[in-house]
Amino acid sequence: MAANASGQGTRHLNNAKINLGSGHWKFEGWVNVDLDQDSRPEVLADLSRALPFRDGCAAFMHTEDFIDQLELDAAAAFLRECHRILRPGGVFRVLTPDVHQLCEMYVNRPDDLKALWRDHVRVPLTFGTAAEIVNVGMRFAGHTFLYDAETFTRLAEACGFEARRVGFNESEFEELRGLDLRSPETAISLYFDLYKL
Ligand SMILES: C[S@@+](CC[C@H](N)C(=O)[O-])C[C@H]1O[C@@H](n2cnc3c(N)ncnc32)[C@H](O)[C@@H]1O
Repeated sequence: MAANASGQGTRHLNNAKINLGSGHWKFEGWVNVDLDQDSRPEVLADLSRALPFRDGCAAFMHTEDFIDQLELDAAAAFLRECHRILRPGGVFRVLTPDVHQLCEMYVNRPDDLKALWRDHVRVPLTFGTAAEIVNVGMRFAGHTFLYDAETFTRLAEACGFEARRVGFNESEFEELRGLDLRSPETAISLYFDLYKL
């Protein structure tokens, strides 16, 4: 199903599984959505605008390392749109980098932070110091606003969700297990399941 931001091709979706900001890591059996044409998503759309989906058409949604690309107010608008298209009882899984872990590693475990960057992030650094990692980490790959658990929970609740913090690939729902790309060994992520009650 090819669709563009006008929503053509999306209107018959029902109980859909929608992956937002999929990039090249598309989920099979899901409707993958991205702005990047090269990644050939099923739906090409700008997620900072109104989403081209009907109210309540999704049973499950997922987004990994996208919401941090938005300013806080834009992230709130995005989550409200996600709340609109999720059906009651539906669940939205959100992964995003954890600024608390980044700062904790900077203060207490700088060698672990350097090893994580060297082995898994691999973005070139000038000196390779922990401070440089914090600075680049806040900004590379389009990072705009990084969350800790408290801030993300408050944002999600303000947008109508019940936010439950979960672990890597851990979910009450089979549909949401086994999708996470970033494990605690390779990244510093927050894992949330957001419930629309
Ligand atoms: C860091 S990548 C994450 C890709 C994948 N979900 C992952 O976890 O590796 C961020 C993705 O968000 C997409 N993106 C950024 N801004 C967007 C926007 N306004 N609308 C739609 N997609 C956007 C990018 O094209 C990219 O594929």
